[in-house]
Order: sequence, then structure tokens, then C-alpha cells
Amino acid sequence: MYNTYNVLKVQKLIDKRQISFLSLKRVNVLIYLDNAATTFPKPESVYTSIMNAMTNYGANPGRGSHAMAIEGARIIYETRELISELFNFDDPLRTIYTFNATDSLNLAIKGLLKKGDHVITTSMEHNSVLRPIHELEKYGIEHSIVQCEKDGSLNIDDITKEIKDNTKLVVTVHVSNLTGTIFPIKEIGEICKKNNLIYLVDAAQSAGVLDIDLKKMNIDLLAFPGHKGLLGPQGTGALIINNNIVLNQIREGGTGSKSSSVYQPDFFPDKYESGTPNLPGIAGLNAGIKYILKRGQKSILEHEKKIIDLFINEVKKIDNIQIYGSDDISSRCGVVSLNVNEMDSAEVAYLLDTNYKIAVRPGLHCAPLAHKTLGTEDSGAVRFSFGPFNTEKEILIAANALNDISSGKYN
Ligand SMILES: Cc1ncc(COP(=O)(O)O)c(C=O)c1O
Repeated sequence: MYNTYNVLKVQKLIDKRQISFLSLKRVNVLIYLDNAATTFPKPESVYTSIMNAMTNYGANPGRGSHAMAIEGARIIYETRELISELFNFDDPLRTIYTFNATDSLNLAIKGLLKKGDHVITTSMEHNSVLRPIHELEKYGIEHSIVQCEKDGSLNIDDITKEIKDNTKLVVTVHVSNLTGTIFPIKEIGEICKKNNLIYLVDAAQSAGVLDIDLKKMNIDLLAFPGHKGLLGPQGTGALIINNNIVLNQIREGGTGSKSSSVYQPDFFPDKYESGTPNLPGIAGLNAGIKYILKRGQKSILEHEKKIIDLFINEVKKIDNIQIYGSDDISSRCGVVSLNVNEMDSAEVAYLLDTNYKIAVRPGLHCAPLAHKTLGTEDSGAVRFSFGPFNTEKEILIAANALNDISSGKYN
């Protein structure tokens, strides 16, 4: 059982650790455990790259031939190359910039499926997959949703069972944003290849942390945000369109290319990238990916596994806490969701925020069928999600806070 931890002493240690926490203090958060929503803090180089783009070359890339526009275009291209390096992919022009993972998933799903097609997905998906495929019902596109196990894991044979003559696409998450369950994307990709199906991976919770290799894995479409594991700012994301796939674009507009034509260009990436790009955001993403490549994804993953392991082990010592997802640490990463006694998850998050300055996310996490799978559709859950800058001390403070809450300190 816990003794009350000396929170003030630890606060001082955290303050010394990173100047970025100065900005955390302004909004009164000390320990940020909501990295699955958006990672925070970012490496210092991300902030300086955004400022550099805004102050030194913040023109409109691709729209002019002056030096500032060319520098912007260079950064945008270099970032495509960094993304290709990270995911072992040869064609940087097939990386399409978007605003977030949702935008990427919408482009992939709506750009691919046509009336009469069938798509297979799972019960652990985020609404950024579930809502587009439900919307497409209106246009004669069918879907099947494979029911996952109570711990969030997937039996891949259940995907094979759902394949029909008109199945065109399989969409799965790589890591669940509710249980942290790691899906076997390599094996699912093999099933898709064997059955001539297109495989779309939602890497919202894995890009920048888990190995994703487009040469070794049969991933046709890879959707990911820039603002989570890739450590860029909000407003960034991308879709990689692999294996010579061509999607319909879902918006048209100015691209800075072929301006004499009133029709959308048909070459990559302009076919899918209309309007002024998010240059400061992409400059920040550029710095985030460089940080990951330098530190090494393996080292980031090891760090996060160590943190999760510690958190789960500490929380297991506390009475009346239910942790969701697999007990096997090797099959999960990034997030741990739980409930305390019969308490409302929002109340637990509120107590953590106001009494301990700990930021977590309660509720349903935009994944209604995942909550049904776990049986938490009424209660929701409190999600703790970790990033590359969380420390063991922060984890101990969070576990101590949960112990206080669970033992009725605020009743
Ligand atoms: C698994 C999963 N997919 C998609 C998304 C949507 O990401 P974004 O907020 O970048 O649109 C999220 C967001 O948390 C997610 O966890």
C-alpha cells in the first residue's frame, strides 16, 4: 500500500528536467498523461522550427518562385522524405499531407470505395473509421464489423470469415486508443494480399513508436496524424498511398500547378492536396520526425513500455481498480484505461486534474464499439496515455493519486 508521496519534492525535480514544463505551469497542469490525444510537450526543436517557418520563410509554398516560397517548398518536400525514411517507403510524392488522422482516413475510405463495394473493419476502431463507413451505407457501400475479444484483441481468422465476393477493403487500427492492444498488422496484410484486398492501417496511436515497414508489410494505405507519436503540432497528418493505388480525390482546388486548367491535376501529390499547405505545422512535424530518427523509435518504444509496465504494476497494488486490456505487456503499448470503484470516469479525471494537476482523458474516447467490446459503454473509462518525455516519478505520483481517490479521500 502507498504512503502519501511528497508531491512538492517531485514537482521540483520535474521543473528542473525540462523548460517546456514552464508552459505547462501556465495552464496549471503538471503531469501530462493525455498523449494519445496529442503528445505534449514536444521536443524544443519543434517549437523553434515552427517559429523559424513563421518568422523567416512563412510565404506560400508552391505558389511563387521567390526565395521564401522555395524554402517553404523545400521543407515540405524534405518532410515527405523523412516520412518515407521512417516508414521504409520509396516514393515521397505518394505521401499526402492532411490535417490529422481523421482527414487521412476519410480520404482513404471515401476515395476508394464505390457503390456495391464491401469493407471489413473491427469493433476496436475509432469513430474516424466507423463514421465514414457508416456514412457510406447511404451510398450503397456495405460493411462488416469483426467483433474483438473482451480484452480488445483480434482473432485474425474472423477477418477471413467476413470476406465476400465484393469485399474491397480491410481497415484496422494498429494500436487501440482504448486498450493499447497491438493488432497483428503484418499478418492481416498477408491475408489481404492473398485475397486481393486493399489494406488500410490506422496508425494514429503507433506512428513514431512502433515499427511500420511498408516494404516488409503489405500495407496499401497508411493513415497517421503528425501531432501524436510523430511529435509535430496539431493540424498535421498524412496518408501514404502505396502499391500504385489511385484514389478519387475528395476535394478540388488550387494546387499551384497546371493553373491554366479548371480540372484537378491527376498526378501525386497535387491530386489530393488542394489549398495552402500548413507550412508552420509541417516544419514542426519535420523537426518531430528528425527527433524520432535521432533518438530511435526502438528507444522511444522501450521507454514507453517501461513506463506502462511500472504504471500497471503500481496500479495493480491498489484495491478496487479495474484495468482494461491484456495483462501481457508485450501485446500493448501507449495507453492504459481503467475505472476506480463505481466512480464516474469524468469525476476521477476531475479529481486528478484539480488535486494533482494530472491531465488524463475520461469518457468514451470516440470509440463506442470498443467500449461495448469491453463492457464499458455506460461507465466510460479513465485513459492514461504516455509519451516519450514522461518519467517514472510522474507515474508514481499518478499511481499515488489513484490510491488516494480509490481509498475514498474525496468522498
Ligand atoms: C485510433 C485512432 N484513430 C484515429 C484518430 C483520429 O486522430 P486525429 O485526432 O488526428 O484525427 C485517433 C485519435 O485519437 C485515434 O486514437
